[in-house]
This record gives sequence, C-alpha cells and structure tokens, in this order.
Amino acid sequence: MVINDLDTPCLLLDYDAMLDNITSTHQFIIGSGKAIRAHVKAHKCSQLAKIQIENGAHGLCTATLSEAEKLFQKGFDNILITRPIVEKNKIQKVIQYVQQGKNIIVVIDSEEIAAIYDEMNSQSSKRLQILLDIDVGFGRTGLLPESVLDIASRIQNKKNLVVHGIQAYHGNVQHIQKYEERKVQTLQSMQYAVEISCELKRRGFECTIFSGGGTGTHAIDVQIEELTELQIGSYLLMDAQYLDVELYSESSSQKLKPALSVLTTVISDNNGNYVTVDAGLKSIYRDSPNPRVISNTDENLNYEWFGDEFGRIIGKVHDDNLRLGTKIKIIPSHCDPTVNLYDIINLISGDKVLDIYPIDLRGCSQ
Ligand SMILES: Cc1ncc(COP(=O)(O)O)c(C=O)c1O
Repeated sequence: MVINDLDTPCLLLDYDAMLDNITSTHQFIIGSGKAIRAHVKAHKCSQLAKIQIENGAHGLCTATLSEAEKLFQKGFDNILITRPIVEKNKIQKVIQYVQQGKNIIVVIDSEEIAAIYDEMNSQSSKRLQILLDIDVGFGRTGLLPESVLDIASRIQNKKNLVVHGIQAYHGNVQHIQKYEERKVQTLQSMQYAVEISCELKRRGFECTIFSGGGTGTHAIDVQIEELTELQIGSYLLMDAQYLDVELYSESSSQKLKPALSVLTTVISDNNGNYVTVDAGLKSIYRDSPNPRVISNTDENLNYEWFGDEFGRIIGKVHDDNLRLGTKIKIIPSHCDPTVNLYDIINLISGDKVLDIYPIDLRGCSQ
C-alpha cells in the first residue's frame, strides 16, 4: 500500500526518522552516563515502547495508572507513574501490582497520601517504591523545596514504603527557544532538586533514582551530575512546538527529525485564496504554533483550523499541488494530544506504508 491509498485524515509516522531520533538520542543520553525512562504519554503505543526498550531504555514512564495497567498487560515492567495518585481505589490497584511483584514506582507530593499508601500496603511483604515529586518552579505538582526534607524524614519511618529518590520535572522551561537561555534556567531550577537529592543521601535515604527532564532540556539535563534518568517523551515523534526550539548547542551536530504528521486531503477548492482540507479540530489538536505544512514546492503554505472536520491551506492555492483530492502532510503543533485523537498510526517509509501500529494506550486517561 502507498500513502495515497490511505483514507484521511490519518496519522503517519516516518519509520526511518523515528528510528534515527531514538537511536541518536539514546546514544547521546546513555553515552553521557544517564539512563532513559521513556515517557509513553507522547505516543501511547506499546509497539513504540518496545522499540524504545530494544534501543536501551531501561524503563518506562506513564502519566496515568491506566496507561501503566495497559503496559503491564502487554508484558512491560519497571514503570514509573509520573502524576501523583490520590484516590483510594487507584492506590488499592497500585498495591495489588506491588503484591503481584510488578516493578511499579509512584510519585507522591503529600504526606497525607504517603500515610494512605503505607497503611494500604501493610498486608504486603513488599515495600512500595516511591519518589518524592519536587516542584522546581513549574508549580503543577510537587513538594515545595523548603518542605521536602521535613516531610521526607517523617515518611522515612513508614515501614511499608521505600523512598527511592526524587522526581523533578521542569515543564516550564522545555520550550524556551534559545539553547543558552534554556540552559541557564534549567540548571537554576534543577539546582534545588540537586541539593535535596544530596541532602537526602546524607540523611541515609537510598536515593538511587533522580528522574526528570524532557525533550526540550535533555541536552542540558545530561550535564546535571546527580540526575540518574531522563523522562523524555516527544523526541521520537517531534512536533511544530519542538521544531521551533534550538535543542542543542551551536557546536553540536545532534538533530531531531520531524517523524510524525497528519495526512489530509483537499476536499474543496472554490475559494481563490485557500483550499479546504479534511483535517480540523478533531484530527489536529489545537495549540500554538500553527501546524506546519510539508511541501516540496512552496514553503509558504500555511495551515489554519477551519472547524471540527475542516482546515484550510493558505498560500499559492491553485498550483497543481493543491488540486481536489491532493493529499498533504501536516506536522501537528503538539504531538501528545494529537496522537490521542487516533486509534492507529501508519508507519511509512517514503511513499510506502510499512505497517500499522495500534495506539493501544489511547483513552487510558484515568
Ligand atoms: C512529568 C513529565 N515528564 C516528562 C515529560 C516528557 O516531556 P517531553 O515530551 O517534552 O519529552 C512530560 C511531558 O509532559 C511530563 O509531564
């Protein structure tokens, strides 16, 4: 099958670009002495997680318990859930996985929740592995740096938990465009977490894990001595947001390629200023910057959302390129929520469709 045979709108993944992104990034990070715990929230696809593990990722991250459950069903292990879990029924499920011997790690940012985990795990012979989630300036979740040590010392006495270290995710700096500016802010915000990690070790905590980082900062995160593993997610797909970011220093030859796109078809061409395509809000998640149109002939084609099931391409619209039925590739603004709109992803190489991978963690938002 070739791309032109596909019904649109649909999701494409350039296999060679994706594999290049994985191998080059993994070599870079592992070569810098850090481990990779790939965040599956970006692709929600167990077959892509398998490729990440085959290429050296030592574990996986999920944003939700239900994503982790799907991965356990598929035979994966060593999973860190990066969003705090507070509901008792979910905590109960986590405990069941611990009792089954699964390698599951949760983050906590509340002493109250740590006490609930401890109590609910009292019948198990295995201690639950936790990371203290530290707020390093993002403000979304995490213990405030000034409160961590006191809370940690009280949690240390809980016999059904083991504090394996910390998580520090600086989501607020990932998309700072200039490398040097991003570097200053990353090192500054992560310094809190570094000091906490060192102090916890001095106080006798195991602290074998310091997990954090993302695609935007990975080239800087590897320079932080204390950090043990990177939680990168988007790097294998890439999107318009990250294509705008100078990911590496000027002297570096590293590069990430756009691998993910949405294929759309021109379905109306009566307006002289634009053509209408079949990918709208339901097929390309709306975020900034605008999606990028991939075009070999005219670099000035721009995509705009035009309703639930419609978009429009503005530019030189009456070229042969943009006749009715023409198929066009568009790089979405933001990969994670766009992938989450589809059941499958088509793996392509050039014009050929190589395979179809189910986005089998789709809908696992709980
Ligand atoms: C806690 C956490 N870690 C890691 C990531 C991965 O970020 P990226 O997709 O930028 O690599 C995210 C993304 O939102 C996240 O929320």
